[in-house]
Amino acid sequence: MAGVLGIDIGGTGIKAAPVDVAEGRLTADRLKLPTPRPAAPDAVAPIVRQLVDHFEWDGQIGITFPGVVAAGTIRTAANLDSGWIGIDAHEFLGAATGRTVTVLNDADAAGIAEMRFGAGRGQPGTVLLLTLGTGIGSALFYNGVLVPNTEFGHIEINGKDAEERASERAREEQDLSWGKWASHVDTYLDKMEALLSPDLIIIGGGISRKSGKFLPRLTLRARVVPASLQNEAGIVGAAMAAAAVSG
Ligand code: BGC
Repeated sequence: MAGVLGIDIGGTGIKAAPVDVAEGRLTADRLKLPTPRPAAPDAVAPIVRQLVDHFEWDGQIGITFPGVVAAGTIRTAANLDSGWIGIDAHEFLGAATGRTVTVLNDADAAGIAEMRFGAGRGQPGTVLLLTLGTGIGSALFYNGVLVPNTEFGHIEINGKDAEERASERAREEQDLSWGKWASHVDTYLDKMEALLSPDLIIIGGGISRKSGKFLPRLTLRARVVPASLQNEAGIVGAAMAAAAVSG
């Protein structure tokens, strides 16, 4: 099967690599460029273009975005510039790259990849993937089918947005010990468990590499595991979504 270029737009970096979507693996080293600040549409678009040019790509492209993406239109951008809101990303990033692109939420993309090739493979029932990064992203599956654009990083815990307490950024910015931060994550996951009764919770994002520091401290009924594709999940899932659209 032909490859698809996956591009993952994040709060700190924009990463890309060609993906073999049948195998779920990158077929070349990924390239990461810093996210411009402010991350306005006109600043981000040339970086996306640069990544496409770097790989001399003229095939299919899938792109993740860290906000709600409804049928290609950006609805929220909690950790990027608010100038994105209302933009038709299929059109805008399509014009910027001169290609047809598929754009979806970053956590949904990571979830799609984990369910097919990673920690959620073959898992029936309710699976909740949470990426604890700059923000908190969520992807909810029932029997392998995604409910898109869930925004469980923004539920309120003790009067605050969950991502202000349990994201990787909260840990860094507030200089929390692993124990303290794990207790915030535990409170948050308890709430999610009470609301959704998931059979499996997958923790993604860069933090999944350090899962030994906080997973043993959690007190959930559900099984909680680190994502296995780690930082590549967004790229792989973006490519899979693009391949699925064009059949
Ligand atoms: C956004 C989500 C996104 C998550 C991770 C949140 O602030 O609202 O849409 O998936 O950050 O980037």
